[in-house]
Amino acid sequence: MRIGIAGAGAVGCHYAAALIGSGADVFLLARGEHLQALRNRGLVWESNGQCRTLSVQSDDDASILRSCQIIVLACKVTQLRTMLDQLATSVGEQALFLTLQNGVVAPEWVAARFPDAPVVAGTAFIGARLIGPGRILHTAAGGIRMAAWNTLASKDERVVRLKDMLRKAGVPVRIEQDALSMLWRKLLWNCGFNAITALTRRFAKDIAARTETAQVAMDAMHEALAIARALGVRGLGDEDVRKHMEVTLAMGPVKTSMWQDLERGRPTEIDYINGQIVRDAQAIGQDVPVNRMLVALMHAVEGGV
Ligand SMILES: NC(=O)c1ccc[n+]([C@@H]2O[C@H](COP(=O)([O-])OP(=O)(O)OC[C@H]3O[C@@H](n4cnc5c(N)ncnc54)[C@H](OP(=O)(O)O)[C@@H]3O)[C@@H](O)[C@H]2O)c1
Repeated sequence: MRIGIAGAGAVGCHYAAALIGSGADVFLLARGEHLQALRNRGLVWESNGQCRTLSVQSDDDASILRSCQIIVLACKVTQLRTMLDQLATSVGEQALFLTLQNGVVAPEWVAARFPDAPVVAGTAFIGARLIGPGRILHTAAGGIRMAAWNTLASKDERVVRLKDMLRKAGVPVRIEQDALSMLWRKLLWNCGFNAITALTRRFAKDIAARTETAQVAMDAMHEALAIARALGVRGLGDEDVRKHMEVTLAMGPVKTSMWQDLERGRPTEIDYINGQIVRDAQAIGQDVPVNRMLVALMHAVEGGV
């Protein structure tokens, strides 16, 4: 089964490398200097103190993905709509999509753009970053949780095959039953830590270890939790916030993708993380002052104020 990975950034390159290393057939949609580096030298993957260079089939022409049975979407959520437009004429009719974007909108957008396609929502628990063209540093974890987004996906046997391929590649995978609950649980962590780490340039574990900043992170997560519950998302509770804090304290030096974006002068995903909570809260007549403040500060920093 051929897997197409659309987006050769930190997440896309990490999973491409893991899959290729285990013998999987992978095509990577890349562009710019990364594509040049991948073609000239291969994909350089630093993980667990080891550095490997892997040969990868890559192109900036999306039709490279036409023969893929599974398409893993690995761009930023801010880039997803453009990516989907590009894929619309390029992917095979039978393709199954896996979204790996943070936030909760990606599977909905994919299902709307490809109404006949099976869509699987995914969350990636990973610390990874690009350290140069075609060069990736994997710093922490790497597990994927996934859940069928639509009925087409819940009946599709490729979901289990993908899980098996990822496990063979050393990726811990869990299949969950409730996609929304899975996405929102991850969103809680992102609301607590992405903006704060980007604004302070401090690792999440250091934010969690300091009483004042830990309180801000927990307040942001509790606000997000209240909105999730008000929207009817099931299976989330205070216990999730407590677990997120516990896990974060034990984390390595993970540089969140929002912090990476800010450093690289690129648009961040703030409008789909804390901004999602602010919009949802406004729609139901509630206020989420901590998330609102984090969005305002991030916009100010992004805008160079
Ligand atoms: N990095 C992490 O540790 C991490 C952890 C958990 C979750 N996530 C989530 O995973 C998602 C991906 O994050 P990331 O850190 O991997 O982002 P990233 O490093 O910015 O990678 C995204 C890649 O997609 C490429 N791309 C976007 N649109 C494209 C198009 N139309 N055609 C070809 N290539 C395209 C980008 O190219 P350009 O550079 O040219 O724009 C970039 O190489 C995000 O939603 C993020 O929040 C990341």
